[in-house]
Amino acid sequence: MDHRTVEKLFAVASPGLEQVCTAELARLGLEPGEVVAGGVEFSGRLEDIYRTNLWLRSASRVLVRFANFRCRAFPDLFRQAVRLPWGRFVRPETRVEIRVTCRHSRLMHSARVAETLEKAIDKSLGRARSPENGPKQLLLARLVNDELSLSIDSSGELLHRRGYRLGTTRAPLRETLAAGILMLLDWDGSEPLSDPMCGTGSFILEGAMLAANWAPGMERDFAFMNWPGYRQGLWSRLRSDAEHVQRPVRSILEGADLDPGAVTIAMENLGRLKVGGPIDFRPCALADQPVHEESGLVVCNPPYGRRLKSDGSMKKFYQDIGRSLSHSFPGWRVALICPEAALVRATGLPFSKIADLDNGGLSVGLYLVPSHGSTVAFSKAINGQMPGARAQD
Ligand SMILES: C[S@@+](CC[C@H](N)C(=O)[O-])C[C@H]1O[C@@H](n2cnc3c(N)ncnc32)[C@H](O)[C@@H]1O
Repeated sequence: MDHRTVEKLFAVASPGLEQVCTAELARLGLEPGEVVAGGVEFSGRLEDIYRTNLWLRSASRVLVRFANFRCRAFPDLFRQAVRLPWGRFVRPETRVEIRVTCRHSRLMHSARVAETLEKAIDKSLGRARSPENGPKQLLLARLVNDELSLSIDSSGELLHRRGYRLGTTRAPLRETLAAGILMLLDWDGSEPLSDPMCGTGSFILEGAMLAANWAPGMERDFAFMNWPGYRQGLWSRLRSDAEHVQRPVRSILEGADLDPGAVTIAMENLGRLKVGGPIDFRPCALADQPVHEESGLVVCNPPYGRRLKSDGSMKKFYQDIGRSLSHSFPGWRVALICPEAALVRATGLPFSKIADLDNGGLSVGLYLVPSHGSTVAFSKAINGQMPGARAQD
């Protein structure tokens, strides 16, 4: 692939994170184009493909818009596809995994579209058939109203797989979502961060990387490393540049969880991440949190599940969460991730919804109480002096 060619690129971002992703692209000196549901268009050269994979915290993939053409018959699809310069992205020993979606088109048989594309790629590369093993390259084919768009994935494994989180518990947040939430909350590492229900520690670990200006893709491999003409020297330079802009973590980052097993996993994940500084995990129930003097951001992703819901204890649980947050974090900004506004209201805190997000297929709201006054608002709500601190949708 010629490193000077300007490519049309697309950063895939989960619903609700598109604007954060746009801001990240702008910080990398790139000019974001159209923002659509599910991602952001931009353009860039080979170096920008490497850099975005290295640095984007909120995106889940970076795609190269490879080709776009109209087709209404399989022979025509083959004829047009075989002429494309596949050798820029696929080596003879690479398997191509083709994911096809067809809508409102004459060609609606997605398996046959994939088969035709595969034959065209094999012919174009001069090989008898696709290899069964070897490195894998993902190709996304989208046929809508007879227009086919082909996108080459440059990332490989999804970008939330930073390489440090091996241990996990139930319902962990994706790293991309945790980082995106911190950026939506404008948390930049200059104030303390606390997650009193930290599970595997996603918020604290992503917070540590943000605070340390640590590139999230430092420790992993990417699909572009298997492209013909992969420029190892360019990648090494970008990694080394990223090392030079790392900075010490100055504010306190603390995670706690009722479950000592989750805390052990969070600590192991921190050990693999290798970001140093005042970062701490400990087993502790939210109700036993000490009163925090210095203010900062407390972010909470409480359990939400059928069991709690069916035995009616959910509302009481969220009421206790509100009471504990208010008592232990006076004057802090308080953020909560929750799928139900009624439960957010049950906390008694004056939350406002600031974003609609997707957490593994579940729609959740990101709610915030700006700093100060949360204690007053909470006690008034509890004592019935307010008509009810409402979570505004
Ligand atoms: C949805 S998970 C959090 C997942 C976390 N954000 C992550 O990415 O791994 C909720 C966590 O709250 C913890 N938890 C439940 N009740 C708690 C309490 N009263 N005090 C502290 N932690 C609690 C659970 O053990 C669980 O790890």
